[in-house]
Amino acid sequence: MEHVLDKYKTVTLEDVKVWFKAGTLKDFPSNRGGCVKYKDKQIAVFNFERRNEWYACQNVCPHKLEMVLSRGMTGSADNVPKIACPMHKKTFSLVDGSNLNGEDYSIATYPVKVVEGEVLIGFID
Ligand code: FES
Repeated sequence: MEHVLDKYKTVTLEDVKVWFKAGTLKDFPSNRGGCVKYKDKQIAVFNFERRNEWYACQNVCPHKLEMVLSRGMTGSADNVPKIACPMHKKTFSLVDGSNLNGEDYSIATYPVKVVEGEVLIGFID
């Protein structure tokens, strides 16, 4: 059986084949997360208004497989934008998905761009 984490793989900007319209600017709160569904994936989207940057990652936390990252607390560590899981506060870089607590868990991240007020997330399929 496919593990829930198997469907989440980091997509780099160079690899994007599909730009999915996740919504418009007003659909996403400032400096917090929103959640969208793309095919069988739940994706957390973050509008870092204070940095004028957007990030997207898997919504499922790899620790206990809870669909919660979109409800986590955003912030930055050494200027790296991060998300802290609301359950047990494990913290991940939104740039490369690495765990900032030095543990093995990591998350998949996806490119985001905003074009004419629409928020687009990049996928490979
Ligand atoms: S479920 Fe996310 S840190 Fe435990």
